[in-house]
Amino acid sequence: MSDTIFPAGPVHLRQGSSIGQPLTRRDGVLKVTGQADFAADHHPDGMLYAVIAHSRIARGRVVSLDLDAARAHPGVVAVMTPKNRPALALDPDAKFHPFMFRMDLLQNDRVRYPHQAIAVVIAETFEAATEGAALLAPHYESEPARVGLDGAEVFVPATVGVGNPSRTEIGDVIAGLAQAAHRIEAVYETDTQYHNPMEPHAIVAHWDGDKLHIDTPSQGMAMAQGRIGGLFGISPENIHIRSPFLGGGFGSKGMFSGPMVLGILAARLVGRPVKLVLKREQMYGPVGHRAPSRQTIRMGADREGRLTAIEVHARTASSTFDDFFEAPADVAHTLYACPAIATSHEAVRLDTGTPLFMRAPGEAPGSIALESAIDEMALACGIDPLAFRLINYAEFEPISGRPFSSKALRECYDQGAARFGWADRPMAARQMRDADGMLVGWGMGTATFPALMFAAKARAVLRRDGHGVMETGAHDMGQGAWTAFAQIAADSLGLDLGAIEFKAGSSDLPDAGIAGGSAHTATVGAAIHDAGAGVIAKLADLAMADPRSLLHGAGNVGVIARNGRLHRRDDESRSESYGEILARAGLDAIDATGSGTMDPAAQQHYAMHAHGAVFAEVKVDPMLGQIRVTRLVGAFAAGRIINPHLVRSQYYGGMIWGASFTLHEHAIIDRRSGRPLNADLGEYHIPVNADIPSIEAILVDEHDPFVNALGIKGVGEIAITGTAGAIANAVWHATGIRVRQFPIALERMLG
Ligand code: MOS
Repeated sequence: MSDTIFPAGPVHLRQGSSIGQPLTRRDGVLKVTGQADFAADHHPDGMLYAVIAHSRIARGRVVSLDLDAARAHPGVVAVMTPKNRPALALDPDAKFHPFMFRMDLLQNDRVRYPHQAIAVVIAETFEAATEGAALLAPHYESEPARVGLDGAEVFVPATVGVGNPSRTEIGDVIAGLAQAAHRIEAVYETDTQYHNPMEPHAIVAHWDGDKLHIDTPSQGMAMAQGRIGGLFGISPENIHIRSPFLGGGFGSKGMFSGPMVLGILAARLVGRPVKLVLKREQMYGPVGHRAPSRQTIRMGADREGRLTAIEVHARTASSTFDDFFEAPADVAHTLYACPAIATSHEAVRLDTGTPLFMRAPGEAPGSIALESAIDEMALACGIDPLAFRLINYAEFEPISGRPFSSKALRECYDQGAARFGWADRPMAARQMRDADGMLVGWGMGTATFPALMFAAKARAVLRRDGHGVMETGAHDMGQGAWTAFAQIAADSLGLDLGAIEFKAGSSDLPDAGIAGGSAHTATVGAAIHDAGAGVIAKLADLAMADPRSLLHGAGNVGVIARNGRLHRRDDESRSESYGEILARAGLDAIDATGSGTMDPAAQQHYAMHAHGAVFAEVKVDPMLGQIRVTRLVGAFAAGRIINPHLVRSQYYGGMIWGASFTLHEHAIIDRRSGRPLNADLGEYHIPVNADIPSIEAILVDEHDPFVNALGIKGVGEIAITGTAGAIANAVWHATGIRVRQFPIALERMLG
């Protein structure tokens, strides 16, 4: 059952519509039965295998490669190096805009980070290509690696994040600190993190003259078409990308990456289709990562616990050859009411691949520091951490003074605290033990993430047989987009979900923009809604203009689209099926395109963010210092929930990232070689089931009339924020030890 009311205007989605139903994902059976075709599952005729040989040094030059040995290996067809790599139309180091990231495409013999491609071996089998790559035996001229936040000259980047000023200030922080009754100052550090989606980056590339077909997991097919088109000097329309399924993206598949271009170059070199899949180790270099951060926070509060000043100064890192600067300090702009807030950033350039978008870039490292500092500030004031947050509840966005388009954070605090049992928490640390003698601690954090939208298009078709088709080049990274979008499509066309054919994941469909910034559902959802409404409007025009129609002359009374029929709004018993209307008009189908983007006026007037409150319990072994998360309760408000089942799953995922951030994940970079020493899933710790025993997500009602037509905010990234700090605060509460270096590794517990 689903309704769309026409004429357009605020859409009334009644209970019983597809939106809001907790449906399981439509592609679930395909995935669990192995029928979903991921990029690397494709084997076009004549396909060869390409394997990248990567640098074992962080900085220097490749002096020699044993090409003869590799070429002589049985099955090896070609070895691609700077000497024979096909020409490109564009310098891989050209940068015309901030989102055009430099690539390593064998343009010379320089090495600028570990795991950079230095050659590509192409062979009849994967094994032959792997063995051929091992025979290259590179010799290097190596220079000392610049490692760590103190390893290079410090400078202030022109902008941070996505074009934000590196320094922002309201009020007088110095005065605010001076007049404070209580003050804290602390330094928080977060380590480098690397991308580890289940599916590594992969491509099957197939040239057909000047046309290119590729299968590759992508969070942004149109941007990839543009990037590839520029590099190869071909029109983006001549590039067909298929990306129906991703085994995780997390930001790493947003920008088309250098190794994928190497796959396309390899196919051009040998004149045959080529498959290239990154080894897990090769994920630790050329496909983006999260830079380390050091955040110095100073805060002051008056006698009643009202914040008088917040100052966050962050150091981050980028590569030596490109610009991407995470902006952790900026989280302080939105969360807590305070008359004086100052944030600033500085950076160093290290011998790493360029850091890029990764799971709440900025917000995640910023949140763990800010939420730890708030906990420390509350303690300094002698106030319960939840009560302290309520005292400093922001009714307006602190940095801008704008009202929030909606903000149900108070309800999140209430519902989360009640479910967790927060009221029983003793103020002091090291007060609780379980029956086994484990130290028990409770901590909390506030979650926040901006409600963003980019730009997307969709096309809706309504057929005479009463079925609808919705087409959009949207991306499903595993979050369930196919299902949520089909639900929106069904309601937009007034059809049951079963009558909807949903097509996505191919670049020949309308451009759905990028699946990132937790904005895909809001952006593509708006486009789908618009396209569906366009079709219903056309259908209503046909009926109302036709003297033979029961809806003739309904005029501005309007009609309601429901269950494949249009009804007069003032007399719902007068209705006709879509098929009848189309048949009488002699049409087989009607279609319409729609677009989705943020309303700039609304954006100017309102601060738009999703919010949440996360409560964590940890148990710490008093002898060994081993930390286990035993309970996580998160309550989140993110506008209209399209599918509570899938949204809950997004929150679980985010909270698990939070646990990962606080306790598990970090790259260990060798100070001498500059290489990540744990570039594999054995040593780079990702939480498993045993690490997360109990996790609950509460979906708090929130109605947002301004954020977009459907009232959707993003849910993908928010839950990493809040959670990471909550766990850190729980560790303090269990032990009395405040660790300010993340992840909280055992040796860091020893202080
Ligand atoms: Mo996300 S880090 O914007 O894919």
